[in-house]
Amino acid sequence: MSDNNEPNIPENKHDAEQRIQDLRKEIRYHDKKYFVENQPVISDAEYDELVRELKALEEAYPEYITEDSPTQRVGVGEIDEFQTVKHKSVMLSLDKAFDYEGLKDFDERVRRNWKQTEIEYVVETKIDGLGVALLYEDKSLKRGATRGDGASGDDITPNIRTIHAIPLKLSEESILRNAEFRGEIYMPREAFDEMNAERLKKGEEPFANPRNAAAGTVRTKDPKIVAKRPLNIFIYSMSYHEEGDFSTHQETIEEMKKAGLRVNKYVVKRGIEEVYEYLKEFEEQKDTLNYEIDGMVIKVNDLEAHKILGHTTHHPRWAIAYKYPPTRKTTEIKDIRVSVGRTGKLTPIAILKPIELSGTTVGRASLHNEDEVERKDIRIGDVALIQKAGEIIPQVVKVIKDKRDGNEEKFQMPHTCPVCGSKARRFGDEVARRCVNAQCPAQVKQRIEHWGDRGAMNIKGLGPKLLDRLVDNGVVKNIADIYKLSESDLADIERMGHKSAQNLLKEIEQSKERGLSKVLYGLGITYVGDHIARVITEHYDSIDSLIETSKSDLEEIDEIGPKIAESVELFFTEEKNRDLIEELRSNGVQMEIESGKKEQFLQGKKFVFTGALENYTRAEASEKVRELGGRVTSSVSGETDYLVVGENPGSKFEMAKREGTTILDEKTFLVMLKTHTLP
Ligand code: IVH
Repeated sequence: MSDNNEPNIPENKHDAEQRIQDLRKEIRYHDKKYFVENQPVISDAEYDELVRELKALEEAYPEYITEDSPTQRVGVGEIDEFQTVKHKSVMLSLDKAFDYEGLKDFDERVRRNWKQTEIEYVVETKIDGLGVALLYEDKSLKRGATRGDGASGDDITPNIRTIHAIPLKLSEESILRNAEFRGEIYMPREAFDEMNAERLKKGEEPFANPRNAAAGTVRTKDPKIVAKRPLNIFIYSMSYHEEGDFSTHQETIEEMKKAGLRVNKYVVKRGIEEVYEYLKEFEEQKDTLNYEIDGMVIKVNDLEAHKILGHTTHHPRWAIAYKYPPTRKTTEIKDIRVSVGRTGKLTPIAILKPIELSGTTVGRASLHNEDEVERKDIRIGDVALIQKAGEIIPQVVKVIKDKRDGNEEKFQMPHTCPVCGSKARRFGDEVARRCVNAQCPAQVKQRIEHWGDRGAMNIKGLGPKLLDRLVDNGVVKNIADIYKLSESDLADIERMGHKSAQNLLKEIEQSKERGLSKVLYGLGITYVGDHIARVITEHYDSIDSLIETSKSDLEEIDEIGPKIAESVELFFTEEKNRDLIEELRSNGVQMEIESGKKEQFLQGKKFVFTGALENYTRAEASEKVRELGGRVTSSVSGETDYLVVGENPGSKFEMAKREGTTILDEKTFLVMLKTHTLP
């Protein structure tokens, strides 16, 4: 390095090449010390200097850049579509034991089949992440793939390359050159908490748990995003190798460690009793680890035994996963509050005196619904047994009635929404209570997203990210507000370019003309899917006639039962929903039956399709029939009026002949659509 701190670039090509090689070796050594062994030997600043020098040299001599250079983690390869790749050998899963009995049975089977009296086992943690296979050729990382269905998975190499704990090149210290390794990608707990706090601050949806965060991240198509996420890996086995000869699992772990792969701590135990002693001992520590585990893995150490014991279609007979019983503790229920989900569902939540469970502080437990509270007789002030099993949100197992002092309060589920004050109702036999106000702030994002959905108003470009920004900034408070958006709103909020903003505004404008059935579906009325919305419009031709109607009138319609009728009636009696409809109308949204469809010449006619049509896809042909008032069903019955037959018809053809259904070929069907005359 020169005095002015600028990297020194040798003029001689060979000197440059030599320096590049040396720097890479040095950086790889420090990567191993820092990311794999967690024992850095130089400061971050010194490390950065080395990388800076290497980058400068590679810039000056790009002909020496190789894919396994430490500078090439991000940006090598792109992901358009994930490609499916076949693993070197099937990635099996593990059989499970839940107690000592289960372990003893496993040990008994191993001893019997391997004809040994005492077995040596390796015990490791079972990391709760995402299984991957890493393929190295001539020491360089060639491919990283997800587990997939076990036989083949998705090629995620560009994402895998961004994880610093995965060496792009195996260390020279090891004999391994061509091999496949299996490991578990995970997100460390602390890093997960930090990342989620950051996401919340930015108004982004937090991840539910570290495993989801890791799984979601490796399936991201932009490696630059992956590079920013704190992913890590533990390699737990070698599934294929061309060099070396190993007789125990332990030897393979040690060789992988030499190669610079990040392997986890393990212990070797003789006999299943010793294993069990260790498992009990480890139970105390498991919650203090900086990663989540999903139990422990017990593996026969001898590799010859792996061959003898073999595997079933699902799991190897030489290994088993041990699951710890779920962690349970008692604490006090300080309060019961009600949260409103994005779909309007009300959920009672127990607010707990905080306790430590499986390494996290637990302050809340879901009570699911009012029936559950009633059934378990959960009261405010009760002492309750709380359980956290795996990734599931904490649950109240039961309350300890002996601890009651008479001051406990019964919980009453509110009949109004705690967020907006509107009516919250249970429909039919549903256990959940729902808020039906389409303007409820707790639901607004999901409601607008649904309104813009393809099957509803079909507004392209109105995605969840944009909506988050528009709603969080208070620009959009309800569905009608999207019809008031201007180009400058979009430019201010999203820094959206002129063209994209124009396109979106055009889409919004066009959506005003979709007509009544799309509006009904788009409003997100409970139980009113696109089919029921169409059925309703066969009987009501404007939203006003629907507002005036009653539950009993609606029930007169063939496909509308009491649950749907009640939901529709309730939706339109809610004042805030009527306000919303008025606001939509005054902003130009058409609330009547689609223009030109009044005559509805296929009214009440039932169609079935079979075989491939030449001029339309099945979906397009069905839409045509519906637009003209007809119905499309999937199977032929005595009620079917027409069967439209394309190329290679299926069994429906025979069925229609038996039923005496009128059969139309494609040409006749097209003429019918054109001339509006029934054949
Ligand atoms: S060995 C032939 N060891 O658990 C089976 N798996 O349920 C090889 N896992 O797909 C699995 N930590 O993704 C093994 N120390 C460990 C593990 C581990 C996590 C995952 C892995 C596997 C799944 C099996």
